[in-house]
Amino acid sequence: MTVEAVVTEDRGSQLLALRETWPHVYALIDEERALGFEADKDRDDFGTAQQGGRGESYVAAQQASPEARITGIRGLMSLVVGPAVGDRPIVLDLLGGDGLLHRVGLGLDMPDMTMVTCDASSFMVARAWAAGVPAVRQRAQRQVFRSGSVDGVLLAYGSHHVPEPERQAVADEAWRVLRPGGRFVLHDFAEGSPMAIWFQDVVDKESTTGHDYAHFTADWMRECLARSGFRSVTTNWMFDPIVATGTSAQGARAALGQYLLQMYGLDKLAQTHGEQGAPMAAVELARGIFRWETSTAFDGMGNHVRECVVERLGPSKWQCVLPRFALVAVGEKPGP
Ligand SMILES: C[S@@+](CC[C@H](N)C(=O)[O-])C[C@H]1O[C@@H](n2cnc3c(N)ncnc32)[C@H](O)[C@@H]1O
Repeated sequence: MTVEAVVTEDRGSQLLALRETWPHVYALIDEERALGFEADKDRDDFGTAQQGGRGESYVAAQQASPEARITGIRGLMSLVVGPAVGDRPIVLDLLGGDGLLHRVGLGLDMPDMTMVTCDASSFMVARAWAAGVPAVRQRAQRQVFRSGSVDGVLLAYGSHHVPEPERQAVADEAWRVLRPGGRFVLHDFAEGSPMAIWFQDVVDKESTTGHDYAHFTADWMRECLARSGFRSVTTNWMFDPIVATGTSAQGARAALGQYLLQMYGLDKLAQTHGEQGAPMAAVELARGIFRWETSTAFDGMGNHVRECVVERLGPSKWQCVLPRFALVAVGEKPGP
């Protein structure tokens, strides 16, 4: 039996597994900080359903369609590894969940990078280990890595879950653990954008966990990074769609609907519309919301589709594209 197979939700067994299977990552951990880690008493939206979370259905969506978000993931990975890093860079994925970015990254033509999955949820960290991904339980606000130890830090796909008064601490911690020349990449779906409306109007109402979080703005991101000391800070829009495939146009739409139901835990919508009707109900809601106006607010988004489309790729191959645009800030820790 592999070490990964026996890792449980217990922190001790996770650290032991890291020491045995990924010693070069374990070497970067400050044991004192790791032992002092306080179990999180906050709610855990990504825990099990029994714990009041939506972790199981979230993980099921990622495992069924790991490539659905590959465009955005590829973009983030190329941003987080700056030109100043050396061989075999180590990047922390602070909101890593069940290790999706690590797994997708293995299939990309990236430099010999190790993406370490970090997450506050013990359920998510255990699921990452079960998928063979090195994972560390920590809160982004107080990391267990040594100062100046890693080449890149990524906060993506859930930055709005960090409580507002604690967001500066996350940027400060990213600064602390980065080596000089390392990059911090902060990604969020901007306040007021269709994605934020989707969370507010659909996920908050149709999931059992709810979803009432303030999303970042470009100014907020820039201020946060600058206050921590990052230099050359930029913010840009990044095309970050969800793409579902099927053997017919209708099949591709239904696959998108199923993905949305699971990823966002839309249990109430599923109860209202039943197993057959719920996927299309989710797609209809998304089609109404994801219309990116060609206004100045969304300048710089490039030549991408701005509403939900179905495209034929070949005989019996269709894809349904849900356009999402994320705001991405990049800051560099100045060199010595
Ligand atoms: C939407 S999921 C993203 C998972 C994965 N990156 C993906 O794209 O599929 C957000 C993750 O952030 C974690 N999380 C939320 N707040 C956190 C915090 N303050 N520190 C560390 N992890 C946190 C949650 O437990 C959850 O697994």
